[in-house]
Amino acid sequence: MLDCDTLPVSSSEPVTIEEYRQIQLELHQHNIAYYVDDAPTVPDAHYDRLMQRLLAIEAEQPQWVSADSPSQRVGAAPLSRFTSVTHLQPMLSLGNAFSAQDMQDFDQRIKDRLKTTDDIVYVCEPKFDGAAVSLLYRNGVFERAATRGDGTTGEDISQNVRTLKNVPLVLMEDSPAVLEVRGEIYMPHAGFERLNEAQRKAGQKTFVNPRNAAAGSLRQLDSSITAQRPLVFNAYGVGLVEGELPDTHFATLEFLRAKGFVVSDLAERVVGVGGCLDYYTRMEAKRASLPFDIDGLVFKVDAFTLQRRLGFVARAPRFAIAQKFPAQEEMTVLKAVEFQVGRTGAITPVARLEPVFVGGVTVSNATLHNRDEIKRLAVMVGDTVIIRRAGDVIPQVAGVVLERRPADAQSIEFPLHCPVCDAAAEQVDGEAAVRCSGGLSCPAQSKEAIKHFASRKAMDIDGLGDKLVEQLVDEGLIHTIADLFTVPLEALVALERMAEKSARNLLNALEHCKKTTLPRFLYALGIREVGQTTASNIAFHMGSLEAVAAATEEQLQEIPDVGPVVAQHIHVFFQQPGNVALIEQLQQIGIHWPAPQVLGEQPLAGKTIVLTGTLEQMGRSEAKERLTLLGAKVAGSVSAKTHLVVAGTKAGSKLTKAQDLGVEVLDEEGFIQWLTQFDS
Ligand code: IVH
Repeated sequence: MLDCDTLPVSSSEPVTIEEYRQIQLELHQHNIAYYVDDAPTVPDAHYDRLMQRLLAIEAEQPQWVSADSPSQRVGAAPLSRFTSVTHLQPMLSLGNAFSAQDMQDFDQRIKDRLKTTDDIVYVCEPKFDGAAVSLLYRNGVFERAATRGDGTTGEDISQNVRTLKNVPLVLMEDSPAVLEVRGEIYMPHAGFERLNEAQRKAGQKTFVNPRNAAAGSLRQLDSSITAQRPLVFNAYGVGLVEGELPDTHFATLEFLRAKGFVVSDLAERVVGVGGCLDYYTRMEAKRASLPFDIDGLVFKVDAFTLQRRLGFVARAPRFAIAQKFPAQEEMTVLKAVEFQVGRTGAITPVARLEPVFVGGVTVSNATLHNRDEIKRLAVMVGDTVIIRRAGDVIPQVAGVVLERRPADAQSIEFPLHCPVCDAAAEQVDGEAAVRCSGGLSCPAQSKEAIKHFASRKAMDIDGLGDKLVEQLVDEGLIHTIADLFTVPLEALVALERMAEKSARNLLNALEHCKKTTLPRFLYALGIREVGQTTASNIAFHMGSLEAVAAATEEQLQEIPDVGPVVAQHIHVFFQQPGNVALIEQLQQIGIHWPAPQVLGEQPLAGKTIVLTGTLEQMGRSEAKERLTLLGAKVAGSVSAKTHLVVAGTKAGSKLTKAQDLGVEVLDEEGFIQWLTQFDS
């Protein structure tokens, strides 16, 4: 490895082309380790320095720069149009199956043609919902990328595809002289949500779904825009190959993986149509929790000899088929729009819909996000709208079918006053949300604030669920968080559906929660953008509530994870007299916490730990709190970068993934034992 830490970015010493090539090679290897294997071998800073060095050399010696240089991913000069290219081998489409019977028929057709009764070996794969592309490599070097087009000719999108970090520009050793790699470029849910959020904030058009977002991103004439889009390439096959290839499809997937491509780890080899149907059942159950859209599954005969014997019909192979899942987008009628007021006063328009079955559930409400979104969609009550529900994401109104607009469609008036307390509705410059200006005097805001205060990760007040909070506020028994602690037993017992025992339990829980921790209390206050982790960081950096309240925005920004926006929210929160009074009241009521040790040593700094399954003794929140305090990052998903997985009971796919990746796993017992080493 080059000792780049000592290399000046711009050196006066003459650079040699060998050194330049060496840096390129190393960057290619780091790219694969980071983006493909998910297992970086060097710190990001080292990578950045190497890249800076490469760019400096390229500035001095522009004639050395080749199209496959790692520097070329940042985006090239905009194009005026895409040129068309002819695929070396056509890109075919797939026949569809919509039922188990269709799959049985497919299998039978294959057996009939092959004149066999033996079970066929199939490879099962997810059908990615993105854009099909073909990548051409000559002697292991990326030459061009093309869209599917009409299957024979597509558009040259090389400049754009080059910017995708997980598309190898150079293949790992021994590559065929010519290799067309076929696959799908898609946008994972998280990236899609982030992109749309950013588009919304910037007042720009949002994308209806990740497929359109992926396709739209690939068709940018300015590749620097594509470079910013969270796109992933997944290889699922090959086109023309001049050179050695394995003799089965499954081995070809392995081959592609070894060459540096991302290949789905959901691909499986199964025996017989029974294996395919079983795969369908398992994947259907998994679909909602996958971090990307799939619109079905693809089944392919594994052996190439059999594939060749089966051949093609029209433009589709006989040896493969796609089985479609139920749609994640459906049309329905927008019956009304209601406005809900959240904890921070944000007024959210909610679409009331003619119930529609989409993404596996019946949807009758969907979010319209904010005032700007209504404007952008130009949606009216009575319109037919496209509802999208993918994975666990909340249902969205993704578009309007203008052709179906009825003559009596009504425009949507965004309220000028809070629909709950009538205070003025205000929009802060630069923010998309319109907020009620009533603060905690608005019953809707105080209800949400109380629910948040009582929630498990905050003060964890057992027995005080959302319904009960609604009831208490609606009955006029409480108005603020502090009022919770003064409700007499008799008043609780008098509530509908409240037995004396539950009322006593609730009073005990309220008493019990008074002994808390500073991170919990800070989180419970519901300061905007202050989640659990940020609250912990604030507590352990500042040491006391007084110090947080007195800190300037600059001082707050010294806290890990706290940027200018969050610092401002915290500062503003402690400037408001109502908040200061509430905190004083709560302390007088007896809420207290031990002074947190200001962090010196963090033995788990730099470690990533994943909690999964049910932790019966400790509970997830507490485990997370302890680990965060010790400096660890508690992550939501397992990758090769994970240091430890704590698997409680009923742990599922995360545990399996950890085992597959060889990540250390502890059960709860083992974890509690392991933690004792950090006890002081
Ligand atoms: S195989 C000859 N495998 O589905 C077979 N296609 O009509 C060629 N797709 O737009 C396709 N995931 O891009 C294959 N695992 C997968 C796929 C897949 C998505 C797309 C493909 C094309 C359509 C096939």
